[in-house]
Amino acid sequence: MAREPTRFEMYLTKLAFFFYGKTVYRSFADRLPLQGNERVLDFGCGMGTVAYYALKRLTQGHLTCIDISERWLNSCRRTLRRYENAAYIRADVPVLPEGSFDIIYCHFVLHDIPESSLEPILTALVRSLRSGGSLIFIEPLREMEKLRYIKRQLTQSGLSHDKSRVTDIPLMGSSLESIYVKQ
Ligand SMILES: C[S@@+](CC[C@H](N)C(=O)[O-])C[C@H]1O[C@@H](n2cnc3c(N)ncnc32)[C@H](O)[C@@H]1O
Repeated sequence: MAREPTRFEMYLTKLAFFFYGKTVYRSFADRLPLQGNERVLDFGCGMGTVAYYALKRLTQGHLTCIDISERWLNSCRRTLRRYENAAYIRADVPVLPEGSFDIIYCHFVLHDIPESSLEPILTALVRSLRSGGSLIFIEPLREMEKLRYIKRQLTQSGLSHDKSRVTDIPLMGSSLESIYVKQ
């Protein structure tokens, strides 16, 4: 069963969005390799912190927001209420059509998911990415074991590493941001 956030957690996230909106979430959204017409998936969207800025760039595209939590997904709907080119799916292991996304991003989501659940999730995400599409994740560097596991799973599923950067993120510390491309 999904772990739903408490009101306090939601309040803290709103504060983080207010204070770090531009430096954390907008910077990540601005680095996404977007032209503006892509079909994009935000896996683990939370309250839509990154989606809010990604949609500003997706003027001709479409964004699908997935979260395991109904509460976060409702909060995401509220954050993105003025956008019509967004869809919302509540799922833990997403069931998505093959090759249906140009870009998939995960912003501080994967490190919290146990390895046993990560395997089917990453397989489903890679399957839903079109050939030539990119999967981008950012996760805390302190989760080194989990990061190794994620990288191994992605390469075994047929993605190749494009580039990585280490960024210092308020509240999360040193974090690894990587882009993988589907052959
Ligand atoms: C730390 S929050 C990050 C939210 C958002 N990406 C951000 O950076 O503000 C992690 C999010 O991932 C979601 N999540 C955790 N496990 C998930 C799963 N198996 N499937 C979909 N979403 C999941 C949680 O409900 C939560 O909204």
